[in-house]
Amino acid sequence: MTLLDTRPAPDAASAPTPWWDGAVVYQVYLRSFRDGDGDGIGDLRGLLSGLADIAELGCDAIWLNPCYASPQADHGYDIADYRRIDPAYGTLDDFDDVVAEAHRLGIRVLMDMVANHCSREHPWFHAALAAGPGSAERGRFHFAPGTGDRGQLPPNNWRSVFGGSAWTRVTEADGQPGEWYLHSFDPAQPDLNWRNAEVADDFRGVMRFWFDRGVDGFRIDVAHGHVKAPGLPDWPGADDGSGGHNGAMWDQPEVHGIYRDWRAIGDAYTPPKYFVGEVWVPSPTRLADYLRPDELHQAFCFELLVQPWDAGRLRAAITTGLALSDRAPAWTLSNHDVHRTVTRYGQEQVLGPVDPSDMISAARRTGPVDLAIGARRAAAAAALLLALPGTVYLYQGEELGLPEVFDLPPDARQDPIWIRSGGTQLGRDGCRVPLPWDRERSDFGFGSGTTPAWLPQPEWLGAYARAAQHGDPRSMLSLYRSLTRLRRGHFDAGAPLLWMDVDADGVLAFVRGRTLCVVNAGKTAFRVPADWAVGALVIATASSPAGTVACDSTAWYDLTSPERNR
Ligand code: NOJ
Ligand code: MG
Repeated sequence: MTLLDTRPAPDAASAPTPWWDGAVVYQVYLRSFRDGDGDGIGDLRGLLSGLADIAELGCDAIWLNPCYASPQADHGYDIADYRRIDPAYGTLDDFDDVVAEAHRLGIRVLMDMVANHCSREHPWFHAALAAGPGSAERGRFHFAPGTGDRGQLPPNNWRSVFGGSAWTRVTEADGQPGEWYLHSFDPAQPDLNWRNAEVADDFRGVMRFWFDRGVDGFRIDVAHGHVKAPGLPDWPGADDGSGGHNGAMWDQPEVHGIYRDWRAIGDAYTPPKYFVGEVWVPSPTRLADYLRPDELHQAFCFELLVQPWDAGRLRAAITTGLALSDRAPAWTLSNHDVHRTVTRYGQEQVLGPVDPSDMISAARRTGPVDLAIGARRAAAAAALLLALPGTVYLYQGEELGLPEVFDLPPDARQDPIWIRSGGTQLGRDGCRVPLPWDRERSDFGFGSGTTPAWLPQPEWLGAYARAAQHGDPRSMLSLYRSLTRLRRGHFDAGAPLLWMDVDADGVLAFVRGRTLCVVNAGKTAFRVPADWAVGALVIATASSPAGTVACDSTAWYDLTSPERNR
């Protein structure tokens, strides 16, 4: 067998393995996880009652999407008070209960740090509007006069990620149209000015506030966004989309100073607090900059998430992720911003290149879906994911095999992407539909069943209910439970990934420690070569004659077991 080592050899004298290396993190989109008070909106009491299920799934941590006080224009990514819990989600006491119970179950708690922007209802923004042009209050944001002879045009040509101009004009105290403010996302999310010392200082306090309550780390929202190019210059082609990655709006060198600062705050705790970044940049080299030893511990390797179901592409993405730094990568196949894997892998696979300036669109395609193929590949992909070195992030509902909900009634959709695109882009509501717990209940056990769930659950969702899958050894839930348990026993954190030379189309294979992982994304069954000398089958996502891996499936083999299984 030929093994190609892609990672530098671990330094024997290096620090002990941190908790997150090898961990499985469960992403909780709180609004849709479980509703504890019967108002149709998921909340902290609901989460509290579901923590045991997360523990049973074999997860080591949760990442909680934003649950701070917010008008919910972007479902919590528009924060009005960073030190309060939104009343729809509960209270600070509820939050403390969640942290205590999670810790009791051995689950760490990560929050979401949304600091690129706040809410239009944040007291700072109210003060900025009231104080007028040139004020210190406006200096916490990006306010600028318009262009055109009457200031009627935006200050520059930048586009909002959610569509339309990145600028909105305000009405001044005298009732006249006045300055414009920058919002990289929705107008309800004004961008903060990170060159303003008061902004930086307040967020230090926010961070300590939650760390002192026991939070173990943060996922950093749009970590590449916080700082803008001085003078906010036009970016050629930004307005018509021909300019690619807007290098004036994103990924400025000064942004790294923020992470060095936050890292020092986190490192002052025992054990040190952890940071993972959401960083969308057009090249792995730029991404690697965020992972310097005194910055973020990890950044999501979205490279894997945006690939089609194709062995070569998946392998290349994994190689890219491993090369980012000599530390454990953070992998994920799904989150609250992209279409669910069952749906993506059940669509026609687009093998053309991914646009580096708009990677996420590759994971939000519409089109016919073969759910049976999609589910089979999603299971195989999960077994690939959970064999990888580093940290694996699961998105709630993927363990149930939920497909994307495309058939939401148009008037029920709430995503600002849907609204700002005038309904031309579906947006992200379809991966945020409240979870089904119990098929027999009217809202599938999400809440009390008296108030409808905040997004309608289609009738077919009941078939995926957790309770029904629980006792079924062939369910997706049972598969995920087995995979997380076997990951622990078979893939030691820190064991490097060694690629196998494979002489078959559509197959990728690697060894980590004492276990071999074979993924067959090809069109025919794969016979494991005799000279790979594999032992017992550990788990397979589809049944297949001994010694073979069925197409669209993944199998793990123990290399140490004396048994032969071929
Ligand atoms: C990334 C988050 O994941 C997404 O849900 C949100 O809309 C934007 N950042 C803006 O905060
Ligand atoms: Mg509720």
